[in-house]
Amino acid sequence: MKRDEIKSCCADAYSKDVVALLLGDSYHPGGTALTRRLAGALTLTPDQRVLDVASGRGTTALLLTDVYGARVDGLDYAPANTALAQGAAQAAGLADRAVFVTGDAEHLPYEDGLFDAVVCECALCTFPDKAQAAAEFARVLKPGGRVGITDVTTDPRRLPPELLGPVARIACVADARPLDEYAGILARVGLRVMATERHDQAMLRMIDQIEARLNLLRITAPTCLADAGVDLTAAPAVLNAARAAVADGTLGYALLTAVKSP
Ligand SMILES: C[S@@+](CC[C@H](N)C(=O)[O-])C[C@H]1O[C@@H](n2cnc3c(N)ncnc32)[C@H](O)[C@@H]1O
Repeated sequence: MKRDEIKSCCADAYSKDVVALLLGDSYHPGGTALTRRLAGALTLTPDQRVLDVASGRGTTALLLTDVYGARVDGLDYAPANTALAQGAAQAAGLADRAVFVTGDAEHLPYEDGLFDAVVCECALCTFPDKAQAAAEFARVLKPGGRVGITDVTTDPRRLPPELLGPVARIACVADARPLDEYAGILARVGLRVMATERHDQAMLRMIDQIEARLNLLRITAPTCLADAGVDLTAAPAVLNAARAAVADGTLGYALLTAVKSP
């Protein structure tokens, strides 16, 4: 698959309403509780300018605006997500402090040194050129600015076949990397890693949640699943493989913070 096709495939998948039915508003393991932990690690203060890369439906950005008083720009590859996020900002009365645009993480439409912090949740793993995206994070940060990432981690050599197909790519697993590789990608663009934390239990809770919601939707909304292309016969094997991969340390979720050298 070509790089632009990979991005569109991920963005299209995460524009579907069935994703919100399965995951809720926050499209990453750990949900808003982990976003709050990330914000705490970044020591955000009111009126700081924050960029949320791959902002999805705006949950992270709106939380950072509402709870921490930040002024947040959100960017996502999927126009439908951008529109929904902007609508959510308006509905919450936060549209003067949270603005969303459609764009590509690997080519950010912002000037150099604009932001106090960049956050990116459950998305670096999907970007075909992770080094280019990280270089963009560094470029748009002020000197001394911070980057906060939460993301899927894997040991790619040990992933079982069930977690390597197209579904695994959409589920953010297929091109995820080990935690130290993410740290290396950041370090090579001048982002010094300050802290890393493992949150593998959050990945297990998300797998359990998806299974429970699939079982419910199988009864209450089977056509919704079929229309979205969810393969209910394959789902148990994929979910069980994911559970086993978390248990043996092949798959997980992590938080990283880094700082741009002054
Ligand atoms: C797993 S979702 C995470 C969304 C959000 N960060 C959250 O945690 O709720 C991944 C998001 O990445 C977006 N995405 C994928 N490739 C992208 C790219 N190259 N640039 C910007 N956004 C991208 C998708 O459209 C999707 O909204």
